[in-house]
Amino acid sequence: MKAQQRKAIQIIEPQPVLEGAGVRLKRSIATRALDNIDPFLLFDHFGSSNPDDYIKGFPMHPHRGIETVTYMIQGVVDHKDSIGNSGRIGAGDIQWMTSGSGIMHEEMPRAQQDEMKGFQLWVNLPAKLKMMNPRYQNITSDQIPKINRDDGIIIRVIAGELDNVRGPVAEIVAEPTYLDVTIPPRGYFSHPIQRGHAAFAYLFEGQGMFAKNGEEEKIIVNASRLVVFADGDYIKANASDQLMRFLLISGKPLNEPIARYGPFVMNTQREIEQALEDLKNGTFVKG
Ligand code: CO
Repeated sequence: MKAQQRKAIQIIEPQPVLEGAGVRLKRSIATRALDNIDPFLLFDHFGSSNPDDYIKGFPMHPHRGIETVTYMIQGVVDHKDSIGNSGRIGAGDIQWMTSGSGIMHEEMPRAQQDEMKGFQLWVNLPAKLKMMNPRYQNITSDQIPKINRDDGIIIRVIAGELDNVRGPVAEIVAEPTYLDVTIPPRGYFSHPIQRGHAAFAYLFEGQGMFAKNGEEEKIIVNASRLVVFADGDYIKANASDQLMRFLLISGKPLNEPIARYGPFVMNTQREIEQALEDLKNGTFVKG
């Protein structure tokens, strides 16, 4: 059977959201238009040249039942958490944090002159791992393989595999792919994605084209937009006469019930109530 190209089935315009202690974000998953793309529960883009938009940051707050993935393009976020980690997430770094049973952490962007730019993705944990011990993978920019192809395409491989290069983020249940792809003007890029896995692209620079109905018919997308793909075997992106840069993210759906309340994502309402009780009783952080 011929490999089938995945079509763009939804183009999401990010919604302005005020989060944390007053950070202006652009949210495209966990909105009225798109609650989730199982196993992905939330996707935020923070980008601003005005420190007032982000300096209040995200003071100490809890998470349970999920993984939060922070990828910085420009700027620095200082973080610390209840399992004793602290440090900085700098330009090009990624932090893959598994909250499991419960973590308290803060994420505070530093003021800077040029634009602050980064992303946060939430990945769901399956019921059997929601109460696992928290853990955390901090991966600095120099540990992320960067592929420079002859055709000018540049790919940073954060998770998943490409050109026999494997990304450093490992042992994640969702078997995620997380690529940062830059395509020069009029170039194109295609990448296999396992059938049955959910996939989306987040275009944050330039303009590009994706398959729409037939493989010949394309839809033109401008930054910043999130593109949801239908099932299939591979995706293809064509840059127009501008460069395009996007994140390509895919993962294995859990197909489990979702009960969410702010920073907690569990399977039942009862488990959400338990998280709130634990927080109140001071028994939230287990390990
Ligand atoms: Co957080």
